[in-house]
Amino acid sequence: MERKVDFRYLQPNSLNLNMYRSNTCGELNAADIGKEVVLAGWVQKSRDKGGLIWIDLRDRYGITQIILNESNDSPELLKTARSLGREFVIQVRGKVIERSSKNDKIATGEIEVVPSEIIILNKAELPPFLIEDETDGGDDIRMKYRYLDLRRNVVRKNLELRHRVSQVARRYLDAQQFIEVETPVLIKSTPEGARDFVVPSRMNPGEFYALPQSPQTFKQLLMVAGFDRYFQIVKCFRDEDLRADRQPEFTQIDCEMAFVEQEDILNTFEGLTKSIFKEVLQIDLPDFKRMPYSEAMQRFGSDKPDIRFGMEFQYLKELTLDAGFPVFDQAESVIGIVASGCAEYTRKQLDELTEWVKRPQIGAGGLVYVRYGQNGEIKSSVDKFYSPEVLKKWLDKANAKPNDLLLILCGKEEKTQKALNELRLEMGSRLGLRSKEKFEVLWVMDFPLLEFIEEEGRYFAMHHPFTSPKPEDIAMLATDPGKVRANAYDLVINGVEIGGGSIRIFNKELQSRMFSLLGFSEEEAKKQFGFLLDAFEFGAPPHGGIAFGFDRLCSMLGGADSIRDFIAFPKNNSGRDVMIDSPSTLDQKQLDELSIAVNLK
Ligand code: AMO
Repeated sequence: MERKVDFRYLQPNSLNLNMYRSNTCGELNAADIGKEVVLAGWVQKSRDKGGLIWIDLRDRYGITQIILNESNDSPELLKTARSLGREFVIQVRGKVIERSSKNDKIATGEIEVVPSEIIILNKAELPPFLIEDETDGGDDIRMKYRYLDLRRNVVRKNLELRHRVSQVARRYLDAQQFIEVETPVLIKSTPEGARDFVVPSRMNPGEFYALPQSPQTFKQLLMVAGFDRYFQIVKCFRDEDLRADRQPEFTQIDCEMAFVEQEDILNTFEGLTKSIFKEVLQIDLPDFKRMPYSEAMQRFGSDKPDIRFGMEFQYLKELTLDAGFPVFDQAESVIGIVASGCAEYTRKQLDELTEWVKRPQIGAGGLVYVRYGQNGEIKSSVDKFYSPEVLKKWLDKANAKPNDLLLILCGKEEKTQKALNELRLEMGSRLGLRSKEKFEVLWVMDFPLLEFIEEEGRYFAMHHPFTSPKPEDIAMLATDPGKVRANAYDLVINGVEIGGGSIRIFNKELQSRMFSLLGFSEEEAKKQFGFLLDAFEFGAPPHGGIAFGFDRLCSMLGGADSIRDFIAFPKNNSGRDVMIDSPSTLDQKQLDELSIAVNLK
């Protein structure tokens, strides 16, 4: 029998409260004065002063003040109230009264509850840190007791935001006919991309599954299967070094569409991003800017430029010639940025900045500066080699104004761009130009298809091996593969790569050619990706897609620096979950069952 599915959502008007409580701790106000209520929650704190006892009762929805008075309340009730410790779970029955001193900072600040009964539902040990917005707990202890950390408003609100974003995304995609499909988590290890997490198979000794780095091939197979529009809010796993915006397991809003061109994808997901910003932050984003990869690298030295501020790269090499300054003479590139209003930087500040760019993470050999004084006077760290007239030419080329500071790095072009990108971001932060209240969204387009990795001596796919080359560049695959551009795009917000995708190859010959460029023998390609190549022989439609880094998107919306704040149970910087103490060793019996011999060096 065919069943009819009702897609209308249930719309609960309020909490369907049960026997434990009649109301939440966040909802009672002046309109409730006189009511008999039952509340339940955690003791945030209690104070006992001058014959009065106040208890702040907290649940997810807020805090309600409970008040007892020595002269009115029974000794038994007073005794229970005095025995309460922080984080005890209690149930309070009582009457709502008007507060004498109101608190307009909280929703329940007009009232308090006079209890007739307090029941201790569960005692609590003293928590190892303060469960308040400003806590005294360091990172480690809060992660070990993450369930206590999650009781804090700030952390809970982050997860509430995450929930909102996922609901908006689901609604938007559902309305656009995307179908949510779950793809498998136990899949097959592939050599491209990051390292895989692997899972041994007991039933197939010596063989391993891999956890997906993304559902990439499965979503392409769904297109071959005719699903037309797919999405999934899905866990992905990558065994890479961790950073503030990277976790070994993270979530993507993963999408794929058939019968589309790049423009269709950009429009659809510009729409999704706008609707998320609108519904979650009430912000109307203007139409997204677009920038080719080559321009992003040239102007900002980054494939994910933060365009909330200018400070664009100024190429100065030709103005530095023939002065006998060997460092610039030997450099492939001499590139500067203008820090507005920084001409007054002291020697100490400039020395510190020089040390900053010389750190291994930045990797510059040194820093040259030119101060453009308030009254037009010019002073630089290379006065010995360049006359004020020449330095003025640099300043003019860089559009510097009096009171500005020109900061210059030099060396191999790509390396210099990379280092100067870091310096630009640092100066942008120091000068307060990177406000979290401002959002600048950008599509970075036309990425190179391949990048040559010197150490490996071969090309790698810049995005992934399924990305299609631009049709007009295909001829160069044979002559100059490094120059071929891809139909690939990244969504960049405030300098963070929030999403990325591409139009895919859907033709077996081109896909095989791509694998061979990436150094796969025909046999290896067949072994690794035979299923996809086979599928391409059974009527694969043109298709393309994108995946949003869901954790990154949430932390961007929430104004946080680290995605960990938006993940309920994140891993620490060594990839450990310190709460459940994982990863951990297995006992010998388990290892034997899995046919695994552990050989620790
Ligand atoms: P990509 O590898 O660019 O594309 O990933 C898509 C987005 O996922 C986020 N992301 C991460 N977030 C947190 N921690 C990580 N370790 C991490 N790695 C990536 C980023 C990134 O933009 N299958 C393709 C998508 C496609 O072509 O459709 C893919 O996975 O925000």
